[in-house]
Amino acid sequence: MLLIILVTSLSILVALFYIKWLKVRSYWAERGVPFVPPNPFMGNLTFLQRKNPSIWMREVYTRYRAPYVGMWLFWRPALIINSPELARNVLVRDSGNFRNKFMTASSKDPIGALNLLFLKDPAWTNLRRRLTVAFTSAKLKSVQAVAVIKSHDLVTRIQNDGHNNISLRTMFADYTTDLFSITAFELASDATLTGEGAIRAITKDFMQFSAYRGISWCGIFFWPELADLFGLPFLPKESTDTLRNIFKIIFERKDVELNKEPRTLLDVLMQLKKKSEEDDNEDSEDFIIAQAAVLLIGGFDTSAATLTYVIYQLAYSPEVQEKLYQELLELKEKHGYQLDAIVAESTYMDCIIKEVLRIFPPMSWLDRVALEDYKVDEHLTIPAGMPIYVNGVGMQVDPQYYDDPYTFDPERFSAENEKNIPAYTYMPFGDGPRVCIGKRFAMIAMKNAMAAIILNYRVESCPGSPKPMDAEIEKRGLFLMPGEDLKVNFIPRK
Ligand code: HEM
Repeated sequence: MLLIILVTSLSILVALFYIKWLKVRSYWAERGVPFVPPNPFMGNLTFLQRKNPSIWMREVYTRYRAPYVGMWLFWRPALIINSPELARNVLVRDSGNFRNKFMTASSKDPIGALNLLFLKDPAWTNLRRRLTVAFTSAKLKSVQAVAVIKSHDLVTRIQNDGHNNISLRTMFADYTTDLFSITAFELASDATLTGEGAIRAITKDFMQFSAYRGISWCGIFFWPELADLFGLPFLPKESTDTLRNIFKIIFERKDVELNKEPRTLLDVLMQLKKKSEEDDNEDSEDFIIAQAAVLLIGGFDTSAATLTYVIYQLAYSPEVQEKLYQELLELKEKHGYQLDAIVAESTYMDCIIKEVLRIFPPMSWLDRVALEDYKVDEHLTIPAGMPIYVNGVGMQVDPQYYDDPYTFDPERFSAENEKNIPAYTYMPFGDGPRVCIGKRFAMIAMKNAMAAIILNYRVESCPGSPKPMDAEIEKRGLFLMPGEDLKVNFIPRK
């Protein structure tokens, strides 16, 4: 008897699951939208941990060639936008309806939940406005000054390490970590020379893959309810504890006045804390630590990975490298070895970085969620709450917009050519109100390092190493980053 009850209940459950699944599966077909066929358990997320999401997005872009394509995050329908016009509508024209990102950190994790990347409106608008002041030209002068010193350290580091067999991404992560350590935490940091430091311990921890971290980030990005239920954290616990201890010391030693113009990134953060305390906000300390954490995590590896691809690509493009060297040399003759002046006037460096970011954008599938029902076009209206992914990473290599898209050609971004690039087909820093807040910080970091290295070394590819387009991409991570240790030979210039 028990067996019959068990079998019957199980059969009913399976039948209910199947009926529900049929309904889920027919969602996009019923609306006449092309879709990626889903798996009954994972939806379209079966690629996770096996293929980088950016590569998957590019494949979807090429396979369907449609302005939008339906997909499922587990059983939740989501929409991929492949058209520049629709991208503009979502990111800019109708950004009032798309102020929030779908990804959400667990409410049990204040360092995740309170930070700028995950905050929802209206708290996000308010914070974004107040944090933006930290990224004006005047505030970034302190970043530029530190970048000059640390770029000279990079040259020394390459010399100390014997010019060869240096892991580019590790070296550049050491460098970008120094920039954050000094400018956002006002903590002395020598990772560019030593590979070690208090903040470097955090960024190293972050770069270390673990299954738990993989699950946490997949939850945060694609199944926020799960992240919330299990309290899946944004940062590993040890890193959160280290950050708290560092800030405990900062809070004891540093005070700021609210009505005084902040000078540094840390001044801005401390003013936010003070304001938050005045408003009787109990979690003011966590609030500040959360912003420091997201700037560090959002900035150090994206910039380091881009620099890695820049230097690696230059090793395979001797003509581009020579042109860059000649430009930098001319500027050096004009200004002396003053990196800040050289960086300010170099135009070719911009072209190179832009071209690298076109092919290797660390995070160019831009997520948003509709606040209210939204009419995408005359055929499709999506309900409030539906996640949307703008497929920048796909558009950036569409031959319709970029001839021979996988050929590295910085001339695409020369002053005369750049104006012909169709709007909203190039978005490595995102677009609209949620555009990357650290873009200028990143450009300063990357340009100083590039200038110092190319003025002092010629970079050559190592025998047997893969061409840039053939190099592996991280499979288990969520961002487009090198999946293998990329190295070059540094030949000292006379
Ligand atoms: C090459 C370097 C970088 C790239 C390619 C990059 C790219 C991006 C992209 C694509 C977004 C999402 C934009 C959108 O959804 O429209 C973003 C957001 C963000 N980035 Fe960056 N980023 C870089 C460096 C940095 C740096 C250096 C910082 C910190 C100083 C930073 C901090 C952030 C933060 C906090 C957000 C969230 C902004 C918000 O939601 O209001 N990023 N970044």
